[in-house]
Amino acid sequence: MLNILFAARPERWATYEIPLRNALKAAGVEAHLAQDIPPAEVDYIVYAPNSTLQDFTPYTRAKAVLNLWAGVEQITGNETLKIPLARMVDPGLTKGMVEWVTGHVMRYHLGMDAHIVNPDHAWDATTPPLAQERDVVILGLGALGTACAQALLGLGFRVTGWSRSSKDVAGVTCVHGDAGLDEALSRAEIMVTLLPDTPATTDIINAATLAQMPRGAFIINPGRGPLIDDAALLAALDSGQIAHATLDVFRKEPLPQENPYWAHPRVTVTPHIAAETRATTASETIVENIRRGEAGEPFINLVDRALGY
Ligand code: NDP
Ligand code: OXD
Repeated sequence: MLNILFAARPERWATYEIPLRNALKAAGVEAHLAQDIPPAEVDYIVYAPNSTLQDFTPYTRAKAVLNLWAGVEQITGNETLKIPLARMVDPGLTKGMVEWVTGHVMRYHLGMDAHIVNPDHAWDATTPPLAQERDVVILGLGALGTACAQALLGLGFRVTGWSRSSKDVAGVTCVHGDAGLDEALSRAEIMVTLLPDTPATTDIINAATLAQMPRGAFIINPGRGPLIDDAALLAALDSGQIAHATLDVFRKEPLPQENPYWAHPRVTVTPHIAAETRATTASETIVENIRRGEAGEPFINLVDRALGY
């Protein structure tokens, strides 16, 4: 019988216990699943980076750490972790991200704010352009960026996606590398940042890259706070180079009350709710990796610790 440790905040147990047990049963995996198992007896660790478990040294028998979050920046640098680390790719989380990103893109594309907040009852009958006349750029063409690109493409937008390696997503203009970033920035009327937080992506939105975007562009960041140089974004918002930003993630969360983003008239703050791991679908992903581990098959969604994602 396998021993599977659930190492997340204790309150998450109520959400995950039954979906994990159901997924184990459906996959025919016999296991003891608990929040407390002697470390040397643990075979797999279902893990959230904000768990109290930070020293993996005593988990001598464990075969993999299976992350409940898509983002892994809080764990990639943990030198006590020597076994494979899988990140979360969850169809439920992906759907959530697609809906959140699409909603915020449509807000900017249609200029909804002008009608939602219209204290002077202005009758400006300018119609918005069609999606086919609008360029949306997604930085990051991974599990989430690709799904968002495809959804936006389905609505008719002209979609460009930027990634580290070369990609081929039907209908999407895929670019990569430094030249690809220049091309993407130059057409980013609406920019969505879905990159991981790594040394290579820190401050990728900075004074120079903001200046490369079309004047009056919009930024939507559900990726991670450190992707943005905050002072540069605030300056670009104040100068009108960036018309508005919707920010879901921040260097410090919860976003401190004194942070200028809260009061800025051209910033919408959302409290890291763009997409959540959904217990039922995520449990299936976790159990698939346990099944693979036991069958001697390669794990899926493995993190490259050197790249940091
Ligand atoms: P993936 O690992 O699947 O995709 C990451 C993408 O970023 C890949 O396309 C990758 O390129 C690209 N990338 C990474 N580094 C670079 C670089 N230096 N230059 C150019 N491109 C780069 O991640 P996901 O799509 O699953 O998730 C993305 C991020 O979304 C997560 O890391 C997390 O921070 C955030 N997130 C936020 C949530 C929220 O609620 N706000 C919820 C879930 C996730 P390549 O394809 O070549 O490897
Ligand atoms: C994640 C997140 O990384 O919720 O899964 O941000």
